[in-house]
Amino acid sequence: MDQLVVGPASTMELSRGYQVLAAARARTDPALRSAIGRLPRPMIDIASYHFGWSTTDGMALPDQDGSWGKGIRPALALVCAEAVGADPGQAVPAAVAVELIHNASLIHDDIIDNDPARRHRPSVWRAYDRATAILAGNSLFFLAVTQLATTGPRPGGEGVTRLADTIQQLIQGQQTDHLLEQRDHVSLDEALAVATAKTAALLRCACELGAYYGRGTPAQIRRLGMIGESLGTAFQLTDDLLGIWGSQAQTGKPERSDLITRKKTVPVITALASDTPAGRELTRLYRQPVWDQATTDTAAALIEDAGGRQATQDLAGRYLRCAHDHLRAARLPPKAHDDLDHVLQLLTDRSH
Ligand code: IPE
Ligand code: IPE
Ligand code: MG
Ligand code: MG
Repeated sequence: MDQLVVGPASTMELSRGYQVLAAARARTDPALRSAIGRLPRPMIDIASYHFGWSTTDGMALPDQDGSWGKGIRPALALVCAEAVGADPGQAVPAAVAVELIHNASLIHDDIIDNDPARRHRPSVWRAYDRATAILAGNSLFFLAVTQLATTGPRPGGEGVTRLADTIQQLIQGQQTDHLLEQRDHVSLDEALAVATAKTAALLRCACELGAYYGRGTPAQIRRLGMIGESLGTAFQLTDDLLGIWGSQAQTGKPERSDLITRKKTVPVITALASDTPAGRELTRLYRQPVWDQATTDTAAALIEDAGGRQATQDLAGRYLRCAHDHLRAARLPPKAHDDLDHVLQLLTDRSH
């Protein structure tokens, strides 16, 4: 098994992590489908395509494992409700809401990144067109807010505000990410701030909402949110590694997809900033307007030689340790503790 980031997770630990995700999926899927079923017809079709439930012609597809992604955020919401002593069912509306936000952001992200593939299929803008993808993303963003405003044990109020604030943070992260792409010099702190805003904020929100709908105390909500935030940053760093060194089977995108689209991810930024011969060669390469397959392989090797891969692995390990520290400090009931522990391990191993 190809370990990309942090030290060995046993097969047993990985499968326990998957079990947590699968249980959350089973609980969330009917509510997610029913929420999408309330959209206007064209949006149902586009969202169903995106989630892997149907073709662009509206033909239903068999339920494949992973069709709507790994379902990390719903799992975090449900486990965090359980962590504060509630029935995880209390957090299903929150689980649906965060998964909708995540998917809206992915549909838009593929336009922004010019990424033609998502989850082994053409991304929405490629399967339809850019205008359709913008509208479908908007539709899912608003559906998420409506979902939380109208359903669940505590409709409206603080949950909706938290979700809305997180959406703004995610958008700000995506905007800064986009701006940094156009700059020659980006600091590590700037890159980490982007990872926190565009990805970790939503994982934090998933944990906080789960605990909030489980009627946890403010201190419990805060602590569980901190686990989500540290995990989220480690997760984005792992994703950055996969975007260069992951296989198509792992990412659902072509190999080296982040180099093909010239995305300035953390390994690239640290390599470019390194005062090494490989870093300087990489800077020259990034000034070259056209890259072929061989150039992306050269770029990957230079990033590694300049220390970008190792630095990113080290950082991911550091954020993961931080998530573990928060987990220990939270003193959760044994099952919720173990479930979160297994999810942490699974998400930063990413041999999937
Ligand atoms: C991909 O997220 C985008 C990032 C924030 C790194 P996931 O890897 O959670 O996407 P799916 O839902 O499992 O496809
Ligand atoms: C995207 O980060 C984060 C959000 C969608 C908010 P990436 O651009 O790294 O995600 P992938 O790799 O395309 O899934
Ligand atoms: Mg992207
Ligand atoms: Mg990525």
